[in-house]
Amino acid sequence: MIVRQRAFQWTDYWIHANIVAADIEHYRVYNTGLGVLYGGDCLELLRLIRSETIDTVFADPPFNLAKNYGSRVTDKLPDDKYINWSKEWLRECVRLLKPGGALFVYNLPKWNLILGNYLMEMGLLFRHSIAINIKLGLPIPGRLYPSHYSLLYFTKGKPKTFRKIRTPIERCRHCGGELKDYGGHRNAMNPKGVNLTDVWNDIPPVRHWKFKSKKRTANQLSTKLLYRVIQLSTKEHDIVLDPFGGSGTTYDICERTNRHWIGIELESCEVIIERLENRELSLHKSEDYVED
Ligand SMILES: C[S@@+](CC[C@H](N)C(=O)[O-])C[C@H]1O[C@@H](n2cnc3c(N)ncnc32)[C@H](O)[C@@H]1O
Repeated sequence: MIVRQRAFQWTDYWIHANIVAADIEHYRVYNTGLGVLYGGDCLELLRLIRSETIDTVFADPPFNLAKNYGSRVTDKLPDDKYINWSKEWLRECVRLLKPGGALFVYNLPKWNLILGNYLMEMGLLFRHSIAINIKLGLPIPGRLYPSHYSLLYFTKGKPKTFRKIRTPIERCRHCGGELKDYGGHRNAMNPKGVNLTDVWNDIPPVRHWKFKSKKRTANQLSTKLLYRVIQLSTKEHDIVLDPFGGSGTTYDICERTNRHWIGIELESCEVIIERLENRELSLHKSEDYVED
């Protein structure tokens, strides 16, 4: 029996011709009612997305630390080649952003210093350099103990969405007592929490298997980080793009918060599809209070 494949129609899912070029359809490996995942090199695929269509870009690229992501990714480039490659995909991401859209780049402080400078040269508006306080491993002799990653936050002109977030008053993990005295103003403080700062001490590393995709050996970000970025910079039904899918943390949070998403991954997309289909991974609890 011959099964006739119905020709693809733009009406099959939410994405349409004024967001992506028809050629990108060839790379589609998965979609939901909210998002679409493309398998391929982001440098090629970003070119098939139309200018000024994306509300927020979140990018967590390989850090050039010689990690093994699979045979298609080289994570050990000479410094100048890594920087040039990063500038190439960043240039595309800036083109795709709507006016007022937000761009977040997660990387080592060493690389983000250079990339942040490039984004300013491209005319983006610097918002914050956020320190994500996570111990990076063992102390290095003759150096300070590295204990943060960098999250750059830029917008294309004045931000169109910036939602105020409050976080709970910090407490001692052991005794439950408050860590700061707030200079005698404790009673006057907002019961919904304190203003989010640009040092994020509350993002856990993804170590325990209940949070982690079983087939994934490379790093995976905490859902708490993505939840915050998405709440801060988008509203429901906005479009979030993450060109380095990994285990699909960004897409998972978009699904749970009713945002559209566009994903790209060069290596196997199986882990992402399983994660979105099964919804078995636990989330790191977020206590962020979002003011609207
Ligand atoms: C650091 S991981 C992202 C992890 C992700 N944020 C998460 O929480 O699971 C980077 C990912 O980018 C993918 N990658 C590397 N180069 C790529 C490229 N040129 N195009 C698309 N994906 C790429 C790697 O295979 C890897 O899965």
